[in-house]
Amino acid sequence: MARPLLTVILAAGKGTRMRSAMPKVLHRIAGRSMLGHVLTVAQEVGGDSLVVVVGPGMDAVREEALAAAPGAGVFVQETQLGTAHAVLAARSAIAAHRGDLLVLFADTPLVTVETLKALLSELERGASIAVLGFEARDPGAYGRLITAEDGTLTAIREAKDATDAERAVRLCNSGVMAFRVDDPLSLLDAIGNGNAKGEYYLTDAVELTRKRGGRAAAVVCDEDEVLGVNARRDLAAAEAIWQRRARNKLMDDGVTMIAPETVWLSFDTVVGRDVTIEPNVYFGIGVSVDEGAEIKANSYFEGSRIGAGARVGPFSRLRPGAVLGRDVHVGNFVELKNVALADGAKANHLSYLGDGTVGAKANIGAGTIFCNYDGFFKHKTDIGEGVFVGSNSSLVAPLKIGAGAYIGSGSVITKDVAANALALSRTAQDERPGWAEKFRSMMTRRKAAASK
Ligand code: UD1
Ligand code: MG
Repeated sequence: MARPLLTVILAAGKGTRMRSAMPKVLHRIAGRSMLGHVLTVAQEVGGDSLVVVVGPGMDAVREEALAAAPGAGVFVQETQLGTAHAVLAARSAIAAHRGDLLVLFADTPLVTVETLKALLSELERGASIAVLGFEARDPGAYGRLITAEDGTLTAIREAKDATDAERAVRLCNSGVMAFRVDDPLSLLDAIGNGNAKGEYYLTDAVELTRKRGGRAAAVVCDEDEVLGVNARRDLAAAEAIWQRRARNKLMDDGVTMIAPETVWLSFDTVVGRDVTIEPNVYFGIGVSVDEGAEIKANSYFEGSRIGAGARVGPFSRLRPGAVLGRDVHVGNFVELKNVALADGAKANHLSYLGDGTVGAKANIGAGTIFCNYDGFFKHKTDIGEGVFVGSNSSLVAPLKIGAGAYIGSGSVITKDVAANALALSRTAQDERPGWAEKFRSMMTRRKAAASK
């Protein structure tokens, strides 16, 4: 029988090796903070209560925690005296809880729900402590899992405290641990700090539990799930793992990527079936692409919706609020911001369309600019269905162009245009027959005279 579960996420570490003004756990992977990733997985595991331990003055971390998990309790660890000390910062929550305890590190953001469930199931099998471990390619500074002949976990040794023999062990501690003990506070309070770092190590709970007659078990997962981020190189490594995973998932779900390793996704990117994504495409936060759309190379998207069958790029930039209907075409060097293009509309070349609407099947010619900003305010441009905007037109907002109207190329349009009208604003063409010939002979004479 599963017992109530309290999840404690440790996020108070300063993370000095990040060399950052920002707390470590707010650094992002795929557009979401590491803490956000861990809170998401913690909620997916479905515990009964969730607490986050932050450092003093880490208001931004507190806000991030509450944004990702509004019901979470936030505790402050006044001084960073180690991971066991950090868990004890949530003393009142632990004291009030009757059930299991899951400890997650906010700097270990790639762990999956399946793995956490496998870890918790060790408690069901009678373990007092279950530790998530992994075979490290380079064990480095990770804590080592020390096992007995029969494979049971006897201790965790931090690298700095390990003997040479212990340091040679490649089975490492991910930091993720689950507890089913009668009195977790007495266990945590019994942990001392007589070690190389002078810290209260949560990892010491293993030996202590065994002394108290409990059994410790290790569950082994893939290293890619439990990379601990302590420095920016680790962050980049975690990002790479996350991206690989997300791309594979999209391909499994029916998306074609010609060069998946060059496509960058965000944590919330949604891509429908039979979408093709060409190389070098960046998906910022809040982008969705419906079925069958074609995303051409070197495009950059944020906060946008791309409709079914649309064709976008190469070299398109979609900024927040770009909404493309079905079969819309957006081509090279077109920037869209806060603008909706209805079904079948086209803007194929060199345009800026910001703050407005474009009706179905309208054609926006090359070089069209929505002049949306007067230096103080932003204004809207609304273009009706089937409108044809000739190339190199400046549409000065606020502006409405009625359905079916034509805008002559090179116009600067400052007043609303009625449906089905032609509007153009440029000087009338003036043609002088034979002028060029006369001009050339005059200039040729002048040049000859000057060089004498
Ligand atoms: C820890 C483990 C190590 C494991 C490694 C995995 C201990 C003693 N060591 O080492 O066995 O291999 O993680 O990545 O547990 N934190 C606090 N308050 C503190 C100290 C840490 O909240 O006083 C938080 C940090 O914000 C971080 C997590 O706990 O999220 C781990 O701390 P960190 O200092 O990164 O521990 P490691 O040296 O990586
Ligand atoms: Mg760490």
